[in-house]
Amino acid sequence: MARVSFLNYEVIEDHGWDVDDENLFAKASKADLDAEDYGRIAVEEGESILEAAEDRGFDWPYACRGGACSNCAVLVKNGEIAMPGQQILPESALERGARLTCVGVPATEQVDIIYNAKSIDFLDELRLPAAQFEG
Ligand code: FES
Repeated sequence: MARVSFLNYEVIEDHGWDVDDENLFAKASKADLDAEDYGRIAVEEGESILEAAEDRGFDWPYACRGGACSNCAVLVKNGEIAMPGQQILPESALERGARLTCVGVPATEQVDIIYNAKSIDFLDELRLPAAQFEG
């Protein structure tokens, strides 16, 4: 089992915080944020991070659920996520910390992520419309 700490990208924007701030999660811990915006989930062996979030009742973005659209993109700030089968993130996005929760599984015991990151400019450019995967 691994632990994933998460922070909603919308909160970072609302507070005028910087995604590259090394103290981002410390700031978030003191900001009295809603449980859906900042917190921690346990991810069981064999479970994707998206599935673990949904099991806890969270409504995180997704569309294809197969590593092909980037709607579920997050930025990793600490730790590592393995993504068997991901097809859409280029090396340049991986280098900037982008990962996918639908096929992503923690590769370290602790991972800190900014979720809801699909609207960040370099990820927004990669995103396929969610409507393409409906039905
Ligand atoms: S939901 Fe499409 S890449 Fe994750």
